[in-house]
Amino acid sequence: MSKNWKRYTITAALPYANGSKHIGHLAGAYLPADSYARYLRLRKRDVVFVCGSDEHGTAITIQAIQENTTPRAIIDKYHVLIKNSFEKLGISFDIYHRTSEPVHHETSREFFLDFYNKGLFREVTNEQYYDEEQKVFLADRYIMGTCPNCGHEKAYGDQCEKCGKSLSPAELIKPHSTLSGKAPVLRPTKHWYLPLNDYEPWLRTWLLRDHAKDWKTNVYGQCKSWIEGGLQPRAMTRDGEWGVKVPVKDAEGKVLYVWFDAPIGYISATKQWAMDHNKSWELYWKDSDTRLIHFVGKTTSCFTASFFR
Ligand code: 2FM
Ligand code: ZN
Repeated sequence: MSKNWKRYTITAALPYANGSKHIGHLAGAYLPADSYARYLRLRKRDVVFVCGSDEHGTAITIQAIQENTTPRAIIDKYHVLIKNSFEKLGISFDIYHRTSEPVHHETSREFFLDFYNKGLFREVTNEQYYDEEQKVFLADRYIMGTCPNCGHEKAYGDQCEKCGKSLSPAELIKPHSTLSGKAPVLRPTKHWYLPLNDYEPWLRTWLLRDHAKDWKTNVYGQCKSWIEGGLQPRAMTRDGEWGVKVPVKDAEGKVLYVWFDAPIGYISATKQWAMDHNKSWELYWKDSDTRLIHFVGKTTSCFTASFFR
């Protein structure tokens, strides 16, 4: 017999506030989530349906450079645009929040400090590509050059779109920054890594055994191949000024990785909604009688899988 849930927390992927969204986004995550929330409300269930703008990370910083403005101006413009579109389309979020809000920054810092105080991070210094003109470390996607495999002159630092080969920026011939056109230089930088490999046993059991029937075939196959390929430590911090500041000593000029803080956005949105309606956010996140359901796009699977536990 299926469980008699007391309440439901429904989340829909937080759109990046760096551009207007298209019908594919709507059909993929927001329409199904909205239909489900409406169905539950019709059945008189206790539901909170949360979403909001994802306002940190490289996508926003780069958009600001391209529009010759600041990240704050970008998010203020696109947050309003996206929020209004959802309203006009009748998507019935109980709250459409923002990750730039103080409650989100505080909540994200608490999560980071909890991991940090439990000794779950590893501090690692390594060399990363830096654009001396724009004064930013470059994500692989923002470095272009000639593909060592097929000679295509516009290969990206993570992949050549012509021959399909996965690349690292160091393999590119004549690499240049897509922001300034200049050759990037290597600079040492320290970051806090989460050893995802330490979590492999429970992830394998939870994803591939206990919930095997719950995933679409392609999502199951993708997760299985990641786990079988061996999970790697992943940096939870980035260099830059735009984002949630890393709340520890010797972390000047470092912010949380956007994929660390964005999923916490579901919780901070619920906190804000609970404050506005005199409710307890904790009941909607920690109570074993609450059903938690995330609607995400497939590119989000690898970032949110570990959060579903
Ligand atoms: O792909 C995107 O648009 C991301 N901003 C989704 C984030 S959802 C999350 F936080 F889980
Ligand atoms: Zn190639």
